[in-house]
Amino acid sequence: MPAVVLIGAQWGDEGKGKATDVLGDRVGYVVRYQGGNNAGHTVVTPDGEKYALHLIPSGILTPGCTPVIGNGVVIDPGVLLEELAGLEQRGVDTSRLVISADAHLIMPHHRALDRVTERHLGKARIGTTGRGIGPAYGDKVARIGIRVQDLLDPGIFRAKLEAALREKNQVLVKVYNRKAVDVDEVVEEYLGYGETLVHRIVDSRLLLADALDRGEWVLLEGSQGTLLDVDHGTYPFVTSSSPTAGGAAAGSGIGPTRISHVVGILKAYTTRVGSGPFPTELHDEWGEFLRKHGGEVGVTTGRDRRCGWFDAVIARYAARVNGITDFFLTKLDVLTGLDTVPICVAYDIDGTRHDEMPMTQSAFHHARPVYEELPGWWEDISGCRTVEELPANARAYVRRLEELSGAPMSVLGVGPGRDQNVLIHDLLG
Ligand code: GDP
Ligand code: IMO
Ligand code: MG
Repeated sequence: MPAVVLIGAQWGDEGKGKATDVLGDRVGYVVRYQGGNNAGHTVVTPDGEKYALHLIPSGILTPGCTPVIGNGVVIDPGVLLEELAGLEQRGVDTSRLVISADAHLIMPHHRALDRVTERHLGKARIGTTGRGIGPAYGDKVARIGIRVQDLLDPGIFRAKLEAALREKNQVLVKVYNRKAVDVDEVVEEYLGYGETLVHRIVDSRLLLADALDRGEWVLLEGSQGTLLDVDHGTYPFVTSSSPTAGGAAAGSGIGPTRISHVVGILKAYTTRVGSGPFPTELHDEWGEFLRKHGGEVGVTTGRDRRCGWFDAVIARYAARVNGITDFFLTKLDVLTGLDTVPICVAYDIDGTRHDEMPMTQSAFHHARPVYEELPGWWEDISGCRTVEELPANARAYVRRLEELSGAPMSVLGVGPGRDQNVLIHDLLG
């Protein structure tokens, strides 16, 4: 059986956790391949229990499924243990979770630097989650990162930490006027984490290759979204990893030829957390309508999400960059109760129409949405399970999004629950 990648098609929070959960009992493995505890994935199980997952793949909630934290993820081990304890307290079996020996660790100096560099950026700040994600990936690429496997060798761990802190402590103290990080304290803390986690550390590349050879489905669960990708997103207002489908192969060690499906999770409108350009953002009552009806508050930081209408330029871009085979359109129910529903079909940039993403950041900052208006609907659609049950105007809205977005709308989300979906095409078909 092949691998399927599930990615966010916008700026994150599209409903990836729910979509992963919907597919959970049909796959043997769910793998996180990038990001860290900047993510917040919400899953509402059939018995109405709501879980917010940050670092642990959403497959943890499906009995029999093995959750894997892949090599491309950055792990804050203290946060991981807290998340595990929280799930265990609620009766979730966490025994199957494994983590890649090659994943990088988020260290105390990464968290400190994330916060302090943001403060120094002032108005130009990115609005990061403050979890140390950017500094940890920075050190990975600079080849001074510390990996999960280093926890297994106390001598190496200390040597790598001392080498890193020789520079980082100078920066913290002399540039930012902060306290230096104490080597001994961190060694003690992190080697303790290593002892607790040792039985979960695996060669995840080999594990996944064997699973695929045995004919099991592997689901690669992205975090963040296409426009937050460090290469393909709205740089520099992005995260520091590659959430797009291309990143799934690198972040899990699965060869790209084994991936047969790429499912793009797409919200029926648009949201964004943190700074950066957002052409369809609304600063009026309709933005408030979306925030209120959609419950648009960040799962990780509790910040209000910025809200705006659906942007088809972005959806087309996501389809192209990721090679999306199917879209899972979420939160269609949130649009109930509007007289008309605007869709951004193109941008006006300094008087010129752009049907595709402009080449430069400056142009994107000047993009003004060109709207097409469709009639809305007032019926409650949260109980609909077939396309025929949807109001005609909701059907027409979805059909128009499909025409504009470049891939079929195969599943429509009409509520947060696992069963609240209209299935049009099988995502694994
Ligand atoms: P993720 O980061 O992509 O997993 O998304 P989040 O969990 O941060 O945000 C999505 C929110 O929308 C969560 O509260 C979900 O429970 C909720 N949700 C997902 N799909 C639907 C849907 O179809 N309708 C409604 N009303 N809520 C949904
Ligand atoms: P999920 O997986 C939405 C945003 C932050 C900030 C930028 C960089 O739940 O969709 P970082 O801490 O990653 O260096 O912050 O990226 N961001 C997210 N926005 N959903 C997320 O995750 C996000 N993870 C990071 O708000 O603008
Ligand atoms: Mg989220």
